[in-house]
Amino acid sequence: MTVTDAEATPSPLAELDQERYAQFRVSFDAVTDFGRRLLAGRLAAAGVLPVAGRTAGREEILARLAVAPGYERLADALLDMLARAGLLRGDGGRLAVSDRVAGLAGDDAVDLSAAALRREHPEIAGYVPLLVACQQRLVDVVRGDAPANEVLFPGGSTDLVSAIYQDNVQLDFFNRLCAAAVHGHVQRFLRRYPRSVAQVMEVGAGTGGTTGPVLDALADRAERLRYLYTDVGPGFLRLGRRCFGAGRPHVDFARYNVEGAPGEQGFEPGSMHVVLASNVLHATMRISVALRHCHALLRPGGILVINEMTSRLDYNTLTFALAEGWWRHADDEPRLPASPLLDVAGWRVALTRAGFVDVRAHAVPGLDADEQAQTVFVATAAGACEASR
Ligand SMILES: C[S@@+](CC[C@H](N)C(=O)[O-])C[C@H]1O[C@@H](n2cnc3c(N)ncnc32)[C@H](O)[C@@H]1O
Repeated sequence: MTVTDAEATPSPLAELDQERYAQFRVSFDAVTDFGRRLLAGRLAAAGVLPVAGRTAGREEILARLAVAPGYERLADALLDMLARAGLLRGDGGRLAVSDRVAGLAGDDAVDLSAAALRREHPEIAGYVPLLVACQQRLVDVVRGDAPANEVLFPGGSTDLVSAIYQDNVQLDFFNRLCAAAVHGHVQRFLRRYPRSVAQVMEVGAGTGGTTGPVLDALADRAERLRYLYTDVGPGFLRLGRRCFGAGRPHVDFARYNVEGAPGEQGFEPGSMHVVLASNVLHATMRISVALRHCHALLRPGGILVINEMTSRLDYNTLTFALAEGWWRHADDEPRLPASPLLDVAGWRVALTRAGFVDVRAHAVPGLDADEQAQTVFVATAAGACEASR
């Protein structure tokens, strides 16, 4: 079953160059395969994995890794990944490394392979430096000897992470889906109520990867719009102000933690026509609670637009999962194994339980739900539909 609610796919904003996307997927797989071998090479070089011809038990390997509190889930996920990839093989209840691990032992070999990969797959070249940087420091991070933030954002720079966002056929497509969904709802509301102002609130806006395309799509409605750019991190609000503040009097900036009730943080419940949350809700301790808070912000009939990863991808486990925040979800929260994510079916259930109706999933046309790396959900807060009244 394909995931997309085709009849509801919003506007030409959301067109995808299928050929380019297919090439992106092939290249992404090549980068991921490189990353898995890199991981095995680093763990072998650190003496964590058994040397060629020897075996070790899983507990023994974890003990050699000396995992710091908070990183147990990551360590398990990494060993599972190596086993799935055949880089670590079961041998009578013990584990041995495969021959494929040997090639990437030294830094020079890594640099040469990384450069070749970037040449062969220019469309995903931006993914390689982050992967190499994360794997170079992985053992230090897992042991608690290096802060993950310093690896992902060295010296406070967002360059390593931003490189992924540049001219990225997949991320651009999903951002345009978000823009189309927000724009469509605002448009319908303003047509229906020509004397009203539409209220849009973005949660976890961060570096504004989704904000930019959404604000561009809404530019023709700016004089009848209030866009509230929020994040839990004050640094992101400063960044947001610099990027999106000048020349846009309709955009405001405020701190909001989606793990807390809106009313307790100065936001009027039931005041928003649209709430947008792009790549943020998986980072909360309880998605069920965060969704209830998003619902509380919305007027009856208002929509929540969620952009989320809906498959566990090893590339993310090798990079973003180094951040402690990736693993902060509660033990009893239903998430995809070895990740903080939900799949498409999981989001539908969570949204329905939080009081949303008419839940629609938008993603790459023609792919099955379990093949979708990312999905945009549009769900309506229960109550009369304001845009169509
Ligand atoms: C992966 S970034 C995504 C940023 C942006 N939405 C995008 O898609 O480019 C996650 C963002 O969510 C924010 N965040 C994490 N937990 C949050 C919470 N409990 N409430 C609000 N924002 C949160 C982080 O500060 C960060 O800016």
